[in-house]
Amino acid sequence: MDRATPRDGAAFVTGASSGIGRATALELARRGYRVAATARRTEALRELTGTGQIFAYPGDVTQRAEMQTLITAIEADLGPIALAFLNAGVFLPAERGRFDPAAIATTYAVNVEGTVNCLEPLLAAMTRRGRGQIALNASLAGINGLPGSAAYGSSKAALIYMAEALKLEYAGRGIRIQVVCPGFVRTPMTDQETEFKMPFLMPPEAAAARICDGFEKGGFEISFPWQLATLTKFVRCLPYPLRFRLLSWSLRRARRR
Ligand SMILES: NC(=O)c1ccc[n+]([C@@H]2O[C@H](COP(=O)([O-])OP(=O)(O)OC[C@H]3O[C@@H](n4cnc5c(N)ncnc54)[C@H](OP(=O)(O)O)[C@@H]3O)[C@@H](O)[C@H]2O)c1
Repeated sequence: MDRATPRDGAAFVTGASSGIGRATALELARRGYRVAATARRTEALRELTGTGQIFAYPGDVTQRAEMQTLITAIEADLGPIALAFLNAGVFLPAERGRFDPAAIATTYAVNVEGTVNCLEPLLAAMTRRGRGQIALNASLAGINGLPGSAAYGSSKAALIYMAEALKLEYAGRGIRIQVVCPGFVRTPMTDQETEFKMPFLMPPEAAAARICDGFEKGGFEISFPWQLATLTKFVRCLPYPLRFRLLSWSLRRARRR
């Protein structure tokens, strides 16, 4: 399919109440889209609506039926969703240092099932129309197993795999699937990080510009910054003993003293 443009319909952004989602909703509006913004915090979404191009659709992505109803309502109000950025996600620092099944379940409920709950109605509607563009927000953290990230990192690895699988499956049906793998972006999520230094930390506005450029270019993968993306993928290619040694060494160096 052709890359989505504002002429094809609305944009839909989940996790739009803060951080990357908020900045991307604003950037899409700046680029001419009418944007349906979803998250649980209604007040934070309402603050975005002053632009006149962003419309608040509060909702919880973990609720499957709610997402079906919400996406139907958006399309009734704003027209077909041409571009969806499935970005809502959580990182629970509580998972650090102990194996925590509850943290894993919560992380998967939002990051994986929450994405699936949006994909279901979106893929159905876009398949009917024979066109559409959907980007899943994963992370560079989904590429290599990292300590303290058994829940978060594996949920992002699942999204990368899911995007690859859906890309191949839906390419012939006019639906363009993309995966977004940001490095470190300054948001309320990374503000929780006190243990490690975050290389190439960037403001959310810069991340949003890269993400929207990636939507326009239409390639499968939107990874940034290139330095961290290249390093991460290089490490992934190494044999396990070497990979584990290099990761342990770099994490020791990154630990704040
Ligand atoms: N920051 C980074 O360095 C970084 C790097 C790579 C990937 N990412 C990914 O980028 C995405 C956005 O993260 P961020 O850094 O921008 O963090 P953030 O500011 O904490 O944003 C997370 C967003 O997800 C929403 N959300 C959480 N649970 C939800 C639920 N059940 N239903 C609907 N919305 C929900 C939050 O809104 P409510 O609380 O209002 O519901 C919020 O808008 C996440 O998927 C994250 O994994 C971030």
